[in-house]
Amino acid sequence: MIIVQDGCFALQTPHTSYIFRKDAAGNLLHLYYGEKIEIEEEGLAKVCEIMAPVITNQNGCSLIADTAQPNLCLDDVCLEISSRGKGDMREPYVELVLADGSSTSDFRYENYRIEESLLTPEGLPGAYEEKGNGQSLVITLADRNSKVKLELVYGVMEDCDCLVRYGRLVNSGEETVTVNRLMSMQLDMEAGVLKITDFHGDWAREMAKNETILRQGKYVNDTSVGFSSNRANPLFIWADTETTQEYGDCYAVNLLYSGNHRESAQAGGHGKMRILAGMNPDYLCWQLEAGEAFCSPQAVLTYSHQGYQGVSGQLHYFVREHIVRGEWKHKERPILINSWEAMYFDVQEKKILKLARTAANAGMELFVLDDGWFGKRNSDASSLGDWYDNKEKLPTGLAGLSEKIHKLGLKFGIWVEPEMVSEDSDLYRKHPDWAVRIPGQEHALGRNQMVLDLTREEVRNYIIESMSDVFFRGKVDYVKWDMNRNLSDYYSQGLAPRHQGEFGHRYILGLYQVIQTLTDRFPHILFEACASGGNRFDLGMLCFMPQIWASDNTDAISRARIQNSYSYGYPQSVIAAHVSGCPNHQTLRRTPLTSRFAIASVGILGYECNLSDASMEDMEEIKVEIELYKKWRNVLQFGDWYRLYEEADKKSVYDMDVIRWNMVSADKSKAVGIMLQGEILANYSHHVFKTRGLDDAKKYHFYNRALKYDIHRMGDLINTMAPVHVKQDSLLHDAISKFIRLDGEKEDKVVSGAVMNRHGVPLAQNYAGTGYGQNTALYQDYDARIYFMEEV
Ligand code: DGJ
Repeated sequence: MIIVQDGCFALQTPHTSYIFRKDAAGNLLHLYYGEKIEIEEEGLAKVCEIMAPVITNQNGCSLIADTAQPNLCLDDVCLEISSRGKGDMREPYVELVLADGSSTSDFRYENYRIEESLLTPEGLPGAYEEKGNGQSLVITLADRNSKVKLELVYGVMEDCDCLVRYGRLVNSGEETVTVNRLMSMQLDMEAGVLKITDFHGDWAREMAKNETILRQGKYVNDTSVGFSSNRANPLFIWADTETTQEYGDCYAVNLLYSGNHRESAQAGGHGKMRILAGMNPDYLCWQLEAGEAFCSPQAVLTYSHQGYQGVSGQLHYFVREHIVRGEWKHKERPILINSWEAMYFDVQEKKILKLARTAANAGMELFVLDDGWFGKRNSDASSLGDWYDNKEKLPTGLAGLSEKIHKLGLKFGIWVEPEMVSEDSDLYRKHPDWAVRIPGQEHALGRNQMVLDLTREEVRNYIIESMSDVFFRGKVDYVKWDMNRNLSDYYSQGLAPRHQGEFGHRYILGLYQVIQTLTDRFPHILFEACASGGNRFDLGMLCFMPQIWASDNTDAISRARIQNSYSYGYPQSVIAAHVSGCPNHQTLRRTPLTSRFAIASVGILGYECNLSDASMEDMEEIKVEIELYKKWRNVLQFGDWYRLYEEADKKSVYDMDVIRWNMVSADKSKAVGIMLQGEILANYSHHVFKTRGLDDAKKYHFYNRALKYDIHRMGDLINTMAPVHVKQDSLLHDAISKFIRLDGEKEDKVVSGAVMNRHGVPLAQNYAGTGYGQNTALYQDYDARIYFMEEV
């Protein structure tokens, strides 16, 4: 709900309040963002009066912007937005250069309006509200030094503790103005110290959680690779230094944007912090012509007094309900088999059909033909842009293959990388100017490929039409939309020199137009975004495609950490995760199949390995796992996801797990728990599984996935049980292992939600050098366990 009284504004969500007001000179003073303060409409001005800073004299070194308020120094108040040149020395929200070369702006309040819907920035994706319960507040500010107006657009959703924000500049003058920055969100707050959490990485090691205590100076999280990037995800969290997973003040911002971004936290000189988030100004220089408007991307902002978990839960809800859209929004996603790690570029119809048959027999639902199927694509050195069938590999083309896959009872999915072109391709030979490069200069290559210039209409049209043809002729049910290199040589041969500073942003606007057209044209297709894994894992892409391939690293241990980090801002329903071969192709680590399944099951499950060569035992296990996943799919994909433990919580030598999670259905009648061990600690045998989010008042049947173990697990300890001596790893040992499997521990209890949430469920004792056979749990390094909870 939006409340307005005498230049005072309050944005009320179910549990938070965001309050600001204009002062006598028309500056917007930010007053409060935090736990909800109930306010009567007629009482808002009074509340604001009490919250407003008491200013009676000038501090030393103060600059006074306006003699109408002779004691107010912009540097020493919390502002709703800031600019350069009038005494606020902190990083600004907006930065313009006028025709005379000056760069001082002075935006003052002009008016406001309320719209009974959520507004979206032109050309950019936006949060949406299906039930008509969204409202927008638009505040218009006018620059005293030019004819530029700045609209601050705030959106509130009745069911959600998140706000959305963006800025819109309108040039109502006659002269062009250069926009060097227009951020999406500014939040000034009274705080002398903050703990910042953000997520960094690179290819195959996305989302390494990073914590920084900020007391003085500035901290920046940004990217310049052209995309939201695996180096610095735009999700940015800040909290009180004492905040825990469950308790304490915690805030987060994320951007609905897929290009270069920047989030910063700056400690001002007066015990105040400024948080900014938006497009990275280092790559923006936009010519705002007379009569034109320019929007920043939408930012989502949230606050919780229930710590990191509170903020994550709110963002998960926001993404599920207000970002992901279309047919697949709430639909259970199919279990897929992907050809990439099974055969890389060597895709051949015969091999494909063998893999597909095995997958179908195991209960999988969708076959995805990854890279290698088109043009002359036998390696990453050629053919991007030539989206016609390779008849040597697919004699009956996509159409024929798709028909055969469908006949097996599987859906058919295809990999494409439409934004790219190989130098060795017919497309490049025909249209060399369509690739991003600066004429007359050497250009950088990434994975042997160049980027198509999506700022140009003819290029966008080529992508739209060539992709439509692929999707039609393949009767495609699913598309993996990949993108495998960063931007370089920022330049478009379709833009005048003075507009080249707009290239990075225009590329993203072009991309959004392309994917909007295609997702509208093919509403039944399930689209999965991918960018070498998580190089474009952001809310912008999620507005068009309901899931993203989270990382090319499919190792269960690495993935547990990566997915745990994503859980800070993204629900598992948008995270695609696959079970892959062993040893893993990225880390060469060996992990049990059970663990690979456990981690991949917390997300959109797929398999990406050569099932055609899998052992009978593994195939049996995979079948059981697929059945389990189908039974629990709704909770695993859409349940509320709680972090119970992560390595950063490690306080003692007894904390050995990599992660512990549980997912709880919306009605709290069902839950699934996952526990992934790190390295085993000898002689430590009592685990407790403590949940979060179950209904205290309900009783649950708590049980585990029954496991059987290969006796090789016990090594030569077999001789403590066997009547005859068995040489370890001998033929006899192998033969026994075929017939005799060891029983895993059994958990089977009825426990109340209150006991599980507060005390936890004591689990069967571990094997600790002694005790096998007494319902003991046989853990090895990297073992996982899955627990099920059903209301009784
Ligand atoms: C990068 C993706 O992340 C992989 O999953 C795979 O699709 C390859 N590209 C194919 O080239």
